[in-house]
Amino acid sequence: MIDFPLIAVVLAAGKGTRFKSEKPKVLHNILGKPMLWYTLFAVKWLKPQKTLIVVGHKKEEVIKAINCDGCEFVYQEEQLGTGHAVYTAKDHFKEFDGYVLIINGDTPLIKGETLHNAGEYLKALIRYEGANLTNYRGYRNKSIAGVVLTAKLPNPYGYGRIVKDKDHRVIKIVEEKDTTPQEKQINEVNSGIYFFYAPYLKEALEKLENNNAQKEYYLTDIIEILRQEEKYTYALEIPDYTEILGVNDRLQLAGAENILKERFLTFWALNGTTFHNPQSIWIEFDVDLSRDVEIYQNVMLQGKTFIDEGTTIEANCIIKNSKIGKNVKILANSYIEDSEIKDNATIGPFARIRNNSVINQEVVIGNFVEVKNSVIGKRTNARHLTYLGDAEIGEDVNIGAGTITCNYDGFQKHKTIIKDRAFIGSDTMLVAPITIGEEAITGSGSVITKDVPDKALAIERSQQKIIENYAEKRKKKYEKKD
Ligand code: UD1
Ligand code: CA
Repeated sequence: MIDFPLIAVVLAAGKGTRFKSEKPKVLHNILGKPMLWYTLFAVKWLKPQKTLIVVGHKKEEVIKAINCDGCEFVYQEEQLGTGHAVYTAKDHFKEFDGYVLIINGDTPLIKGETLHNAGEYLKALIRYEGANLTNYRGYRNKSIAGVVLTAKLPNPYGYGRIVKDKDHRVIKIVEEKDTTPQEKQINEVNSGIYFFYAPYLKEALEKLENNNAQKEYYLTDIIEILRQEEKYTYALEIPDYTEILGVNDRLQLAGAENILKERFLTFWALNGTTFHNPQSIWIEFDVDLSRDVEIYQNVMLQGKTFIDEGTTIEANCIIKNSKIGKNVKILANSYIEDSEIKDNATIGPFARIRNNSVINQEVVIGNFVEVKNSVIGKRTNARHLTYLGDAEIGEDVNIGAGTITCNYDGFQKHKTIIKDRAFIGSDTMLVAPITIGEEAITGSGSVITKDVPDKALAIERSQQKIIENYAEKRKKKYEKKD
């Protein structure tokens, strides 16, 4: 939250040529969300009174994918540069007596906290100059134009270089393609994140020109324009340079994803999660973990997933939009999606659970078992090679190996109900719709098409024949042929 009048402008109109992609650059995913989402998340921290997103290339796709509540979109028809992008939005801050936060949409690693600190720095500068923060009128004649966030990069290649005086005032920003050999040596770079006093910004935008190596209207030229009028932009160097990294190609995308992944792992590790081989583990933004969760290699936790205390997730599991209870064991190579697993259940290895299934307390779902849109009652076991779809299964039921709910007749899906303590023999085919009563039993290998009453046995298979000495007879038959 920032306590001075603020409008945010997020630049997201560019094509992202270096991505070599049909998809607009800012929609490329980092840990399951478009990179622009992260930039917006940081901006929202400040609660600006308006958030404008400049869109252009494939704008409908961007607007739809971002689905930003309370954002306004500005259309930049032709992408003539970052300066032109802000110029396009200028009517939205025409009468505004406050500050404009400008941020590149391809800077997903910036933290809200850092933006907030930059706002505080700006306030301190203004105070130092003797202005009264509660009264924004009268700033017009002050000498502070704004703040640009910078960082020192190990490899500054590709970024605008910061040329500044000894008072941290920026003299100019030089784009890579316009640098002299000396300027190339500067490792303090422009983050693409700025706060400008709106009336000054508006005036300077009118004066931008495109006489540079790329024939673009560079936003960065604003600083030099304002400086000539003795309105100064201050550089605020932020200590963690990873926050300002721009994402211009897929290599940088992968790099940014790794950095974010490491941040999340660090956070959870310090909050009581054990990770084995953490580099291989993937945890997305909306995941929530309780204490004493233990996670092995190659696990992916995606979407809105919550894992409660004491649960262990073995190698190669994927859990998406699911809620996992306390002390659950999810054994290797299992896939759980849009479902809930309650306390003390055991899942896997090699299990698949999906479409709003609920697996109750102490259930065992074993190897090669698929559960779809089903509720499985407490302490029920389905340990091997089974498909349970559209089923409602009671408590203490035993599902034999190879059991299948035949839920689909080629046109519609039908329900299977299995009541408490039923015993389903191995390889039973349950042709739905069907109900198996309490404590009912089905014989192995049966195809059950009719409801089974409580406590009854249903068996459907032909009688077994015994032919004595058949092996000998068969041998003789072949001997004769020779
Ligand atoms: C920009 C800065 C550079 C800085 C770097 C930080 C300029 C001239 N250069 O360079 O100093 O170090 O960011 O990452 O600003 N965009 C539009 N409309 C346009 C052009 C761009 O909306 O006409 C958007 C892009 O979608 C992107 C952002 O602005 O999100 C930055 O544009 P990009 O071309 O990536 O600028 P850089 O070359 O990275
Ligand atoms: Ca960029």
